[in-house]
Amino acid sequence: PLAATGDLVAGAATARSAVVAFNVITLEHVEAVVAGAEAAGTPVLLQISENAVRFRYGRLLPLARAAVAAARAAAVPVALHLDHVQSDELLRQAPEAGFSSVMYDASRLPYADNLAATRAAAEWAHAQGLWIEAELGQVGGKDGRPPLDAHAPGARTDPGEAHAFVTGSGVDALAVAVGNAHAMTERTAALDHDLLKRLAGALDVPLVLHGSSGLADAELTEAVAGGIAKVNVGTALNIAMTGAIRDFLAARPEAVDSRKYLGVGREAMVEEVTRLLGVIGTP
Ligand code: G3H
Ligand code: ZN
Repeated sequence: PLAATGDLVAGAATARSAVVAFNVITLEHVEAVVAGAEAAGTPVLLQISENAVRFRYGRLLPLARAAVAAARAAAVPVALHLDHVQSDELLRQAPEAGFSSVMYDASRLPYADNLAATRAAAEWAHAQGLWIEAELGQVGGKDGRPPLDAHAPGARTDPGEAHAFVTGSGVDALAVAVGNAHAMTERTAALDHDLLKRLAGALDVPLVLHGSSGLADAELTEAVAGGIAKVNVGTALNIAMTGAIRDFLAARPEAVDSRKYLGVGREAMVEEVTRLLGVIGTP
C-alpha cells in the first residue's frame, strides 16, 4: 500500500534501523524497487529527483503516477519522496503528485541563505502535510561535479551549526555530509563515524545518508547504528541495470526486442534492492 515517508522513517528510527530510499528514473526502476522490497519483506521509499524529472522532459506526473500505482499495488508499505528539489515550481507539485515528503536542497547556498530558503520551504511543506528533509554541509558529486569533493575541508556538517539549522528551519530530517559522496561507482567511501555520532547526539531529528552507493556493507550498518534512519541509494541500481544490459547486448548483438534487455536490467536491479534491504532494511 501507499504509505507516508514520515511514518516509515519514524518507525525505522524507533527500531534503530533505516528505511532505504531508492532513486527511480524509469518504470523498470519503480517495478524493481517494489519487487525487491516485497522479496525482502520490508517497507521502502521510491524517490524521484529533480534531475530525473529533467530527464523526463521536465514532467513529474507520468513517472509519479506510475510510482503511486506501483505503491498502491505493493504487498509492503511504499512511500514517495521528491529528492534534491531546488526548483520551487517542482516543490509545489509534490502533494498533488502523491508525494508525502520532499528533500529541499539549498545546500549550495551560503549558510544564512540555505537556512532562509529552507525555513520558507518547510513552512510551506508543513502547511501541505508534507515531511521535509534538508541538507547542511555539501555532499559532493552532484550534477557531475567530482564525486570525492566531499572530502575537501569544510564540506562536512558541523554539529553546532546543524543544531541551529534544524531548530531555525523546522525541518523533519537532516542530510549530513560525513565523508559520503554522490555517484561513486566503487564502494570505497570511509565515513567519519565519530562525527556522525556527534551529529546524532546534537539533533533530535532523524539523519539521512546520501551517496550510499559508495559504501561497503560494514560502513552502512555502522552508519545505521550511528543514527542514520534514511539511506539514499541511486547509482548502485544504475550499475546493476547498465552492467546487465551491457553484458546481454554484447552476447546477443542480434537482439532487438526491448523487453529482453530491459527485463534483464530490471532483474539485476531487483537483486541489488533485495540484497541491500537485507543489509540495512527496516525489520
Ligand atoms: O539522493 C540520492 C542519493 O544520495 C543517491 O546517491 O547515487 O551515490 O547512491 P548515490
Ligand atoms: Zn542525494
